[in-house]
Amino acid sequence: MESLLIKGGVPLHGEVQISGAKNAVLPILAATLLTAEKCVIHHVPDLSDVGFMGKILSSLGAQVKIDGSTVTVHAAKIKGHGDYELIRKMRGSICILGPLLGRLGKASVSLPGGCVIGTRPIDLHLKGMRSLGTKITIEKGYVIAKAPRLVGTELFLGGRSGPTVLGTANVMMAAALADGLTIIESAACEPEVIDLANFLNAMGAKIMGAGSPTITITGVKELHGAEHEVIPDRIEAATFAIAAAATNGEVRIKGARADHLHAVLDKLRECGVKVERQGPDLMVKRGGRLKPVDITTLPYSGFPTDCQAQIMALMALTPGLSIITERIFESRFMHVPELARLGAEISIEGPSAIVKGGRPLSGAPVMASDLRASAALVIAGMTARGATQVNRIYHLDRGYEKIDEKLKRLGARIERVEGE
Ligand code: EPZ
Repeated sequence: MESLLIKGGVPLHGEVQISGAKNAVLPILAATLLTAEKCVIHHVPDLSDVGFMGKILSSLGAQVKIDGSTVTVHAAKIKGHGDYELIRKMRGSICILGPLLGRLGKASVSLPGGCVIGTRPIDLHLKGMRSLGTKITIEKGYVIAKAPRLVGTELFLGGRSGPTVLGTANVMMAAALADGLTIIESAACEPEVIDLANFLNAMGAKIMGAGSPTITITGVKELHGAEHEVIPDRIEAATFAIAAAATNGEVRIKGARADHLHAVLDKLRECGVKVERQGPDLMVKRGGRLKPVDITTLPYSGFPTDCQAQIMALMALTPGLSIITERIFESRFMHVPELARLGAEISIEGPSAIVKGGRPLSGAPVMASDLRASAALVIAGMTARGATQVNRIYHLDRGYEKIDEKLKRLGARIERVEGE
């Protein structure tokens, strides 16, 4: 398996171009199943998760062509039964359920695996599909869904941790071809939900209110092909902003949407990082001594859980006590013991991590456990004295396009090597 070998102590300088958003493109690719016509998606990031979704669509009978950052999908004839092993391996694949039900009235998809950050239930997805008239059974690890006719309805989709992003996506996609009006209350408001709604509307769907807690979908008979450009990845942009601050560098982040990053930029400014908007770019550098902060992850537009690990790496360098509370996932602190190997002083109290920052970090071999934890370890490794080897970086390649090459162009001493 591959690892990243990092020699710390180099401030990042230069500019980085942000790629398309992983969490927008996965449901958008799934949505191409809703039409027999060709769809062309631009600004698609080169990620293993995207390649995986392409394989899943092909296993359903769609023709998929990946040409650089443009993906063409032609789902002329498809079947409702996905490849168990393929679908089980990627959580994001659950978002083929809605499109298959909308297009075929039936679907059998494997229950998505949980992952290190939590059990990742799909009860709200199933509640949404049942509300639209779907009969759901769970057999041998498969979700077997049958809906000869989807009927619009009003449903509350909030769960114990707030709205569900992919659950909202699934219901939107199924309801797009249901009979009548569907109103989703407590819908997720993430920018990726808006991007999906924009793509669906380009296909002829009638969706209003995406980005707000109440989304209305007026069902139509069928959807046609469309072309779409995926929004930039706000989590990638935030990751590079945090890395610039952590390494005491100065980085121009190109192509980010600052309006998708209010909570992150607010916290960075609060801890003493200078963030300036220069047209479509963001200039980020440390503005003096870093100050500890208190952060709680929340549904959008609150502080994103997908930036929790990365900001923790920054707080490990920040003199004083910072408190980071994770309210979205039940176990998203796998990066804590690995950051501790680099010398970070972090204790966990229930849903909160108390970070006693300020002591310099020193390099060591560390193990990536999930996508964003890996990013946190890379950030910490770039600031640590000596060498850090981040192992199992396949986690990183799932969600960051060529991150080692982008960091190297910013001056980081980082090499991809054969590791454990
Ligand atoms: C999306 O996952 C993202 N993934 C995640 O990004 C992100 O962390 C998450 O939204 C929250 O913002 C993609 O978009 C591919 P949820 P999703 O359903 O939709 C609970 C990354 O690093 N819940 O919004 O699967 C769930 O357990 C990844 O890029 C239920 O209880 O997340 C969690 O506590 C990680 N029942 C909360 O809701 C359900 O049926 C939010 O989950 C569904 C979810």
